[in-house]
Amino acid sequence: MAEAATSIQIRKLYKLFGPAPDKFLAAAQQGMSKQELRDVHGHVLGLRDINIDMPAGGIQVVMGLSGSGKSTLIRHINRLIDPTAGEVLIHANGEALDVVKMSHTQLLNFRRERTAMVFQKFALFPHLTVLENAEYGLQIQHVPRKKRHEASMQWIERVGLKGYEGHYPNQLSGGMQQRVGLARALSNDAPILLMDEAFSALDPLIRSDMQSVLLDLQQELGKTIVFITHDLDEALRLGDQIAILRDGEVMQQGTGQQIVLKPADDYISSFVKDVNRGRVIRCRTLMSPGAPVAGPTVDASLVIEEAARLLSSENLESANVVSSKGKHLGTLSMSDIIAAMVPPNDAQEQRETADAL
Ligand SMILES: Nc1ncnc2c1ncn2[C@@H]1O[C@H](COP(=O)(O)OP(=O)(O)OP(=O)(O)O)[C@@H](O)[C@H]1O
Ligand SMILES: [Mg+2]
Repeated sequence: MAEAATSIQIRKLYKLFGPAPDKFLAAAQQGMSKQELRDVHGHVLGLRDINIDMPAGGIQVVMGLSGSGKSTLIRHINRLIDPTAGEVLIHANGEALDVVKMSHTQLLNFRRERTAMVFQKFALFPHLTVLENAEYGLQIQHVPRKKRHEASMQWIERVGLKGYEGHYPNQLSGGMQQRVGLARALSNDAPILLMDEAFSALDPLIRSDMQSVLLDLQQELGKTIVFITHDLDEALRLGDQIAILRDGEVMQQGTGQQIVLKPADDYISSFVKDVNRGRVIRCRTLMSPGAPVAGPTVDASLVIEEAARLLSSENLESANVVSSKGKHLGTLSMSDIIAAMVPPNDAQEQRETADAL
């Protein structure tokens, strides 16, 4: 890769849409409600006081309902939108650059060389072939023909489209078109990948395939990915870190586990209540300290659903939890796993039902 893992730091970012955003910035900073800003002052509060440290070489997911500000936020990272206030700091190679302060030329270079975007509606050129679409970014950068062919073909293969390089987008299914979108984004070797609802237009099975493709590639590439979705399962599967937006504000951020286990408020609870907790909670979180027991060994990073499967297939009650290096860390029992898989509300409901009967 061209540069070491890049981290993105968003600091005190505000965005007001309307005729005189600067005039209402102070009011927004002092907490005037989105409704008052809109109804009384004719301004839309897009983002308020966003502070996120996006993990270098990891996947930052931003989720929230429609209109919560997800697209507005991701578009600040390559400054397709100018903020009303705040910083977007890019840390790489020991230096920090503020995207907000870049000159026009710096910004164009930054966009071309250090970021790539994958769009919800694929945004492929219909009159260009798969190969021509994939190498488009390199062509703009005047990379010689042979070199850009080679680079793009490599990514076309990696996303599973070998043999389709001469096809046109309308000859491909939606899932295949988005593979082209991904190949195009990967071809310019940018350290930052911005994905705004990139898989939302796909059927569930194809969507899950694309998530796998992305995770596989990410294992090897270690890019800094900002991935927007309004789907919690997708967020939990992909996100090393998740930020949840509501009305332009971050309501909670943390790992998927942290959010599922400790939702910050009712809004987040309602988001996470139906999630399959067994696929989110990891053995490390649930284990108790203690000497090794007679039972199977599970990796601390394994999700508890898998541990439960292992225990039940061997008809055993407890497992030994070990680090990735094989060091004994503690033990985990089947009853702890079952208790953790039931969300707190249901547990309460079950107790109340039991009491009532
Ligand atoms: N150019 C604009 N002018 C005025 N208001 C805007 C503009 N762009 C976005 N908004 C407003 O900012 C808020 C956030 O919009 P945004 O598009 O970021 O939401 P989103 O979370 O991406 O929603 P979706 O899931 O529907 O894509 C909304 O209230 C929207 O109406
Ligand atoms: Mg959007």
